Amino acid sequence: MAFKKITAADIAFFQSVQGIKAVQTDAEALENCSSDETEDLHYLPEVVIQPQTVAAISAIMAYCHEHNIPVTPRGAGTGLSGGALPVYGGVVLDMRAFNKLIALDTRNLQVTVEPGMITQELQDLVKAAGLFYPPDPASKGSCFIGGNVAENSGGPRAVKYGVVKDYVLNLEIVLPDGEVMWTGANVLKNATGYNLTQLIVGSEGTLGIITKIVLRLIPAVQHDVLMLVPFRKAVAACEAVNTIFMAGYTPSAMEFMERDALEWSMQYTQATGISLPDDIEAHLLIEVDGNNMDVLYKDMEAIAAIVQRFDIDDILFADTHEQKQMLWTLRRKVGEAVKSNSIYKEEDTVVPRAELPELLSIIKELGREYGFQSVCYGHAGDGNLHVNIVKGSMSDEDWNNKLTDGIRQLFAEVVRLGGTISGEHGIGLVQKNYMDIAFNNRQLQIMRSIKQLFDPKGILNPGKIFAD
Ligand code: LAC
Ligand code: ZN
Repeated sequence: MAFKKITAADIAFFQSVQGIKAVQTDAEALENCSSDETEDLHYLPEVVIQPQTVAAISAIMAYCHEHNIPVTPRGAGTGLSGGALPVYGGVVLDMRAFNKLIALDTRNLQVTVEPGMITQELQDLVKAAGLFYPPDPASKGSCFIGGNVAENSGGPRAVKYGVVKDYVLNLEIVLPDGEVMWTGANVLKNATGYNLTQLIVGSEGTLGIITKIVLRLIPAVQHDVLMLVPFRKAVAACEAVNTIFMAGYTPSAMEFMERDALEWSMQYTQATGISLPDDIEAHLLIEVDGNNMDVLYKDMEAIAAIVQRFDIDDILFADTHEQKQMLWTLRRKVGEAVKSNSIYKEEDTVVPRAELPELLSIIKELGREYGFQSVCYGHAGDGNLHVNIVKGSMSDEDWNNKLTDGIRQLFAEVVRLGGTISGEHGIGLVQKNYMDIAFNNRQLQIMRSIKQLFDPKGILNPGKIFAD
């Protein structure tokens, strides 16, 4: 793609726009926006702009559209598919100043927020009003709600409460040519034309810049109980998952961790108080929530009775708030722990839940065939398995070339099982060359046409989703 390089005249224009907090070209600012949490990738932007108003974003976009300058929107930079990487340089639009609550509508159980609010802050804020916004990605303490919408994030609670798309009612966006528009209405039902709101959710910052988000909320849930179940066979843990759902239970979290995932996270977080016997291959972290403790205990006992059929060791029931926190920290830190341990590639496979045992077996088989080691963990209740392929002792040659064939084969198997290649991390930069496995030409052509319609010059977050 031939984009214009940024000149002193462009910088002077950006500085002249009202409602901009900073226009930065110093090495440190560029470096800070050159990477996200995706592997070890680095792409330097030419300028970082921190807008404070929608009008400022509109003015910047109109200018960049006219001058053919690429713009990459950036939230907190916690993404795992390279969505925030400015792969063609140009402008990074740093959205951190958009961190305000606009309205908490307790009559309609809705909240309107700016995209730069930290997800955890949003959750705490609505909780103080007795309300609940459930989607909770592992990075909830640092990620922004805008990035969550752009990626259609999930997290552990998605299994009971759904993912981000299930909460987004309406969005204000700035189009690539600078026009500002709302995508829908603040209503719980909407059968009015094409659903532009849901088209923007998960569009990875390629169609418009999200500037306001209207979310539906639900009443706060009072109680939860949590248990950690050690399995001697990892595949049996995957089988237990579906058995629990088929018995009629819907846990509020059903997380799978292979032995290495938990062990590395224990080392990384310096956790104590959990024993990990040698013969344990995997754990399930199971939570049920609700407002009646008697019902929760009964459900937990029933689930415990089900998992007893699967060759397990002693179940750890988290009794205290601290113990629950500790178990959740261990789970949430797995990704970081793996990253700190080795060069790795993270895949975000998802299959229909009942196919999870087969998926795990296939991953291990492909590992033997292609010589890679994998650490698997994730949202088993959603059939969503994060496959972290660690470089370990693999040669650079095998890592860079042979592994791609292994990943292609893995994705082909995922699709054969009725699944797809990303459940919640998005396609972004790192999965775009695999899109032909998930979609045929016609499907890809329709998606490219949508991109073209929104962004005819291709200036907004270029280099993402579609293979070059
Ligand atoms: C998690 C992130 C990596 O589930 O999605 O920990
Ligand atoms: Zn996840």
